[in-house]
Amino acid sequence: MNESKSFDVIEEIIKKRGVTSRIFANREILHPDYVPDVLPHREGEIKKLAEILVVSAKGEKPSNVLLYGLTGTGKTVVSKYVVKKLVEKASSIGSNLGYAYVNTRKLDTPYKVLASIASSLGLRIPYTGLAISEVYRKYINALENWSGLHIVILDELDYFVKRNGDDLLYKLLRINEDLSKSRVSIIGITNNLYFVENLDPRVRSSLGEEEIFFPPYNAEQLYTILKQRAEKAFHPGVIDDSVISYCAALAARENGDARRALDLLRVAGEIAERENALVISIEHVKKALAEVEEGRVNQVIATLPLQQKLVLKVAVNLATRKGFTTTGEVYSVYLEEARRRGLEPLSQRSVSQVLSQLDMMGILIAEVRSMGRHGLTKVIKVKEEVAKLVEKALADT
Ligand SMILES: Nc1ncnc2c1ncn2[C@@H]1O[C@H](COP(=O)(O)OP(=O)(O)OP(=O)(O)O)[C@@H](O)[C@H]1O
Ligand SMILES: [Mg+2]
Repeated sequence: MNESKSFDVIEEIIKKRGVTSRIFANREILHPDYVPDVLPHREGEIKKLAEILVVSAKGEKPSNVLLYGLTGTGKTVVSKYVVKKLVEKASSIGSNLGYAYVNTRKLDTPYKVLASIASSLGLRIPYTGLAISEVYRKYINALENWSGLHIVILDELDYFVKRNGDDLLYKLLRINEDLSKSRVSIIGITNNLYFVENLDPRVRSSLGEEEIFFPPYNAEQLYTILKQRAEKAFHPGVIDDSVISYCAALAARENGDARRALDLLRVAGEIAERENALVISIEHVKKALAEVEEGRVNQVIATLPLQQKLVLKVAVNLATRKGFTTTGEVYSVYLEEARRRGLEPLSQRSVSQVLSQLDMMGILIAEVRSMGRHGLTKVIKVKEEVAKLVEKALADT
C-alpha cells in the first residue's frame, strides 16, 4: 500500500466513524460516578439527610445515619450530593465542615479505611507500617487541631463488616467521647437489608440513630432520571422519548435500579455508535440489555464466596428443572453437595438468607408463600436468560 492509499484508509475511517461522536455529546454524563445537579424523586431523602447533618453542624450532639435500600436507589449519589452542598455552604460562611467518603468495599481493611478518613483532613498516612491505634491517634489529633464537624461516609458497609467485623465501626461510632473541639458524624450505607439485623446491638443502636430508607424507583421515576441525563449526554435528535421509556420500563421490571437503567442507555448508545447508526433504536436497547445482563450476573457471581456459589448453583439447577423450587429443597440438596465436597455446611437460616440476598441482587426471584398448615415457605424461581448466564459462570464450581 502506498502512502496516499493508507492515508485514504484513515480518511475513510474518520469519515465513517467521525472523530467526534455522532451519538454522544458528553459521555461522562452517563458515567456511574457522575453526580448530576438535580436528583429527581429524592427530594424527601435529601431533605431528611440535610436536616440531620445541619443539626450536627450547629454543635449539637451529632447523629449517625444509616442509609439503606436496594442497589441503584441513589444512596451513594444522595449522600455525596448533600454532603458536598453542605460543605460548600459551610465554607462560604467560614464554618469548619469537612468530609471523607470511603467505599469500604474497595478499601477493604480497617487500616485502609482509617488512613483514608484521616487523609481527608490533610494527614499523610503511609500505606502500611503504622499500627492501627497510631493512625487513630493521628486522626484524633488532627481533628482536635482543626476543630469542626467531620462527616464520614462509609459506603457499602455490609461488605466491610462481613470481612473485618465491627471493631472499627464501633470505635468510630464512639469517637466523639475522645474529642473535645471537634465532632464526627457517621453516615453508613448498605444495600443489604439484613445487615442491620446481624449487627451487634450496641453498634446497631448507635449507627441507626437515624435511618433513611431508599425505595426502588418505578418506571415513571426512572424515565425522568434518564430523560434528564439523556438530554445532556446525547446530541439532539439521537434518542426518542419512546426509547427512553423503553429503557425505564426494562429497568423498572428489574428492581427499579437506576444504575441499570443508565447502563442500558449508555450501552445502547455505544452499540448505535459501533453500528454507525444516527439514532438509538429499541433494537439497540434490546442488544444492550443482553450485554448489561451478562456483565451484571458475572459481576455478582464474582463476589460470592464458594458456599454461596454452591447455594446458587443448586437453586438454579432445581428451579430450571421443575419451574420453581423451595428453600427446604435447596437446603437438602445443598447439604449433600457441601458434605460431598468436604465443606462445613451453612445452616438452613444462612442458606435462606443467601437466597434472599440473591433475590435482592436480582439473580433469583424469591417469594414467601403460605403452604397451608405447613406454614410459610420461600418459593424460588429464576428467569431463563439469567439461569443460562449463571450456569455458564458457575460451570467450574
Ligand atoms: N434520583 C436520581 N437522579 C439522577 N440520577 C440518579 C438518581 N438516583 C440514582 N441515580 C444514578 O443512578 C446510579 C446509581 O445510584 P447510586 O450509585 O447512588 O445507587 P446506590 O443506591 O448507591 O446503589 P448500590 O447499593 O448498588 O451502591 C448513579 O449513577 C446515580 O447517579
Ligand atoms: Mg452505592
